[in-house]
Amino acid sequence: MSRDVPNALRTRACELFGVEYPIVQTGMGWVSGAQLTAATSSAGGLGILASATMTLEELRSAIAKVKSRTDKPFGVNLLPNQPDASERLDLVISEGLKVASFAAAPRAEQVAKLNEAGVVTIVTVGAPRHAEKVAAMGVSAVIAQGGEGGGHTGTIPTSLLLPQVVDAAKGSDLVVLGAGGFFDGRGLAAALAYGADGIAMGTRFLLTAESQVPDNVTSIYLETPLTGTVVTSAIDGAPQRVIRTAMIDALEKSPGLLRFPKAAGNAVRFGRQAGVSMVDLAKTGLQMRKDQELSWAQMALAANAPMMTKAAMVDGDPDVGILPTGQVVGAIKDLPSVAELLGRIMDEAADVVNRLGGE
Ligand SMILES: Cc1cc2nc3c(=O)[nH]c(=O)nc-3n(C[C@H](O)[C@H](O)[C@H](O)COP(=O)(O)O)c2cc1C
Repeated sequence: MSRDVPNALRTRACELFGVEYPIVQTGMGWVSGAQLTAATSSAGGLGILASATMTLEELRSAIAKVKSRTDKPFGVNLLPNQPDASERLDLVISEGLKVASFAAAPRAEQVAKLNEAGVVTIVTVGAPRHAEKVAAMGVSAVIAQGGEGGGHTGTIPTSLLLPQVVDAAKGSDLVVLGAGGFFDGRGLAAALAYGADGIAMGTRFLLTAESQVPDNVTSIYLETPLTGTVVTSAIDGAPQRVIRTAMIDALEKSPGLLRFPKAAGNAVRFGRQAGVSMVDLAKTGLQMRKDQELSWAQMALAANAPMMTKAAMVDGDPDVGILPTGQVVGAIKDLPSVAELLGRIMDEAADVVNRLGGE
């Protein structure tokens, strides 16, 4: 690599993931496919494939595609309670992948299995106690995602959550990455100043040349101001940050019971498409109900949510689909290649480190 990286930017995250830069491209359903993941890993970051919205066969072929484009380490993002989660873990292990990341706390036996196979585990957390809980299971790293982050998100801003999680991890080997609101090298330097080992970004990677989101939807993201997002539970019962569109306004106004029949129909379609039976979908829903105390109507909405994301992010129809995003969307105005983006972030962070450390 030609870039001269200061030692301050070569962190424990680089060592753990076997990458050049302490920057992770997170798993984003319908968005983090083989092209984006391969571009990130081959440019020196850690790319992660989003697998919850893929069938097992689609995941297998996406892994093969990434491998055909880069020999650098990459990861797969998993839902711990997906009905075929154990087959997916077996696939990650048999493919010899470096990293498995989880959108929510995995089960202890899942972590043990991955640890035994030498796969590095990452879990996204929204509170310091969650970091302590997963560290006790033997998880290697956490992504501390502040409320400004995209997709499902909490309420604590990154500026408060990150130092708390760093403190909670003190004295352990847990590697901590900051997420939610990062887009440039100043942010990377700031995360390191908080005591983190690197950053994880979703929205910034969604808006790159290698991301395959349809052009009309990309334009909506680029035009959205800092105030153009909203956190709503109307989609699947759990707070999710999305671009505020006419569809979201209408969804928020309609009573849950009216949303239910359409959601149930879409859930059936998603089940067919993803090769998941209604029994399995119901099992996932029941698990969610147990974890999050969702109502039956919310459960159908939860099963429906992936279809609504697909409608916008794959089919290019924002009138019926949802556009998950971080607030950071309002600070992003361009579509660089992933290599350009990573180079820019590393150069800016190096400047900050030199400026603060220098005379
Ligand atoms: C379109 C989109 C889809 C997402 N899907 C997932 C997902 O499937 N699994 C997951 O763990 N996180 C998901 N997230 C959250 C991101 O992985 C990441 O944690 C978040 O975007 C970080 O905040 P930022 O957007 O401010 O960078 C998604 C985010 C977006 C914007």
